Amino acid sequence: MKYYINAYGCQMNVHDAEIISGILESEGFSSIEDHESADIILLVSCAVREHAETRVLGRLSQLGGGWRGRKSGKPLMVLCGCVAQEHGDSLLERFRDLDLVVGPDCYRDLPRLIRASERISAVDFREGDYTGIEPARMDFPRAYVTIMRGCDNFCSYCIVPYVRGREYSRKNDSILSEIERLSESGYGEITLLGQNVNSYRDGETSFPQLLRSVALSAPGSWIRFVTSHPKDLGNETVRVMASEQNICRYFHLPFQSGSDAVLKMMNRGYTAREYLERIGMLREAMPDIVLSTDVIAGFPGESEEDFQKTVDLLEEVRFDNAFLFKYSERSGTAACSLENSIPEEQRLARLNHLQKLQRIITVEESGKLLGRILRVLITGPAKKPRQQASRTEGNRMVILENTDFSPGSFVNVKITRADGWTHFGEPCGNLKS
Ligand code: 5AD
Ligand code: SF4
Repeated sequence: MKYYINAYGCQMNVHDAEIISGILESEGFSSIEDHESADIILLVSCAVREHAETRVLGRLSQLGGGWRGRKSGKPLMVLCGCVAQEHGDSLLERFRDLDLVVGPDCYRDLPRLIRASERISAVDFREGDYTGIEPARMDFPRAYVTIMRGCDNFCSYCIVPYVRGREYSRKNDSILSEIERLSESGYGEITLLGQNVNSYRDGETSFPQLLRSVALSAPGSWIRFVTSHPKDLGNETVRVMASEQNICRYFHLPFQSGSDAVLKMMNRGYTAREYLERIGMLREAMPDIVLSTDVIAGFPGESEEDFQKTVDLLEEVRFDNAFLFKYSERSGTAACSLENSIPEEQRLARLNHLQKLQRIITVEESGKLLGRILRVLITGPAKKPRQQASRTEGNRMVILENTDFSPGSFVNVKITRADGWTHFGEPCGNLKS
């Protein structure tokens, strides 16, 4: 049987799609890129904001209803991921073409559920991970490796702890053996994944210790990790990063709001000043570090002054890149019961303001790279013909024209043009493996 899979949302979901594919392929299913010819259609959904949820459910209705004209009849429709976990059985009532609803802890059951062809939802929380499953990786030479699943932080706006359950760290040994295999197979970039990587713990092994072992186990690969929580980021992680040259000088550190009052209502566990201290610590240890962040505009009770503090923080740090969101109510989260909700137009106006400001900063910071020589990892073809895409250590995309490097090779390039987060470059000199 042939299956088509599509993931929405964060890198964790993209990697879950690789895990699902690994599970299905080990049971004889084969993947196909054209959903029209698929026997099974799987969507891996994201519930973090209403917009993400609406998008995936829209796609589900479209694909679900679209089968009627097909020669091959109705495909088996499977909704996986966070929206599946959030709504469970009720989705089967709402979407009559939907067959299976499978939450993030139940993917091992997929082959059995598919074969049973019964309309059912599987959404139990199970402590454990997908150790032993070989993910069908789709993005050579970039690989994701899960180090922990779930989240115990309960930021008041966030649905993740409800749909992905309690934190669970994967065994150190199993992570390292996966890293060694990836390194031997020529993966040039390995990203460690977890909702809050800094709270990783396996017995005596903490996150910085794991990070050092990972870096030493894959000396020829770049190592990244997401996501870090400012309250749990300690000096040791920064020391390990500064001392291991293959850990990318790149840090994604969400701050969410620049106002202490809002941070408190968000249950983030740090103040703006403490956040800035962490940024200072990173920049002091690695002056050339590339920084990115997440911000939410229009959280309930956010006054003009609170919002201005967010603007000030963006201006003060001058992140190279920022993921900016307007607050979205997620039912069941603590923030839903807060008063003084901000009208939709105001949330949008604040978001637009942040976007304009960040665009200017991103363009200015990228512009500073013109004429500089940077090392990039060739990732594959770019959108246009005769172009190749690559990434810098700071995760910036660099497009090369008329080159023919093999994906996975490291090349030195001179930056010739910058357009926000996307850059253009020309190879210059020594090719390193
Ligand atoms: N509304 C808006 N943004 C949210 N995020 C998480 N929950 C919400 C929400 N309810 C954002 C945070 C987080 C990122 C992954 O998504 O900024 O860091
Ligand atoms: Fe959500 Fe906060 Fe956990 Fe991140 S740390 S997943 S924002 S609850």
